[in-house]
Amino acid sequence: MNKKPHVAVVGATGAVGIEMIKTLEKRNFPVGKLTLLASARSVGKKLKFRGEDVTVRELTRDSFAGIDIALFSAGGGISKEFAPIAAKVGCVVVDNSSAFRMDDTVPLVIPEINPADVKKHQGIIANPNCTTAITLMALYPLHRAFGCKRIFAASYQAVSGTGAKAIEELKHQVEQLVKGQPVTKEVYPHQIAFNVLPHVDSFLATGYTKEEMKMENEGRKIMHHPTFRASVTCVRVPVYRSHSVAVNAEFEKPVKVDAAREVLKKAPGLDLVDEPENKKYPMPLFTSEKYNCEVGRIRQDCALDNGLAFWISGDQLLKGAALNAVQIAEELLKL
Ligand SMILES: NC(=O)c1ccc[n+]([C@@H]2O[C@H](COP(=O)([O-])OP(=O)(O)OC[C@H]3O[C@@H](n4cnc5c(N)ncnc54)[C@H](OP(=O)(O)O)[C@@H]3O)[C@@H](O)[C@H]2O)c1
Repeated sequence: MNKKPHVAVVGATGAVGIEMIKTLEKRNFPVGKLTLLASARSVGKKLKFRGEDVTVRELTRDSFAGIDIALFSAGGGISKEFAPIAAKVGCVVVDNSSAFRMDDTVPLVIPEINPADVKKHQGIIANPNCTTAITLMALYPLHRAFGCKRIFAASYQAVSGTGAKAIEELKHQVEQLVKGQPVTKEVYPHQIAFNVLPHVDSFLATGYTKEEMKMENEGRKIMHHPTFRASVTCVRVPVYRSHSVAVNAEFEKPVKVDAAREVLKKAPGLDLVDEPENKKYPMPLFTSEKYNCEVGRIRQDCALDNGLAFWISGDQLLKGAALNAVQIAEELLKL
């Protein structure tokens, strides 16, 4: 891999794409050249990188000649079509969509958990689902110490998880409600302002949504834990940024709160914020724009054997998307 790679961001104008550009700059990723790609709608738009304007170009089949690493965040359809084209001309794709996550030939990576899987890539590496990534930041270190059998969880997912249009929808609905106007909706099936929707992604025949099953499916692959089980309810909440997850986990070995705290204190990419007596616990307002996820409200689960209950919050545009993708690119440079 070129040590000063030519990097492309596909979907550069989107909620994740913008964070990718910022993260590349903030982490001093050694970008030799940056190419920004989006749809025809954005051609000519200028975005800042290291103080300079970079002009957005249209994504086409010829976009990838000479590009070393492409960070994709333009939706599953675009990834399915263009990631193989990019990989064919020697570019390594880090894909944020769900298109390739469960493909056996594609590593699915959280660098704090399974960085060695990057080595197995054949041109495409997948970035996990945002809610799964944030949950595993706390669950995986606990699993290593105590052996996780299964979890029950409920997510509290921010609107930026749906993309730039959903952020606008929440802002607009809040303004409409404050002015006493009727609420209009385009992105979500119901009003999201001052409401919560127990509906993220499409429903499966089992009654779960696709998003809910990502925790078990992707969790098994990332943790190399084929018997891991997860029953999840995913909920969209009127928060702009950062997902939170309430988790009840059952372990093979007995686990005490103090021992769990010791494990979590040492876990990379994670801060322990657990002083309920001082009203200190993770909250999306305070994890937004922060690289590390936060875990707190750790307690012995009163309804599970060897069980722990905890609450985790993390910026899904960062750890659930842009930061994790740039960290994968950093791993690529070490190969
Ligand atoms: N948001 C999150 O927290 C999050 C987390 C993890 C993964 N992801 C995944 O990341 C992807 C992007 O999500 P997002 O939230 O950033 O969405 P978004 O804000 O709606 O942005 C979508 C991006 O894709 C581009 N795009 C759309 N159609 C295109 C086309 N035909 N050709 C080229 N570019 C096209 C858009 O360009 P224009 O501006 O030109 O339309 C824009 O840059 C999705 O696959 C999503 O599942 C998102």
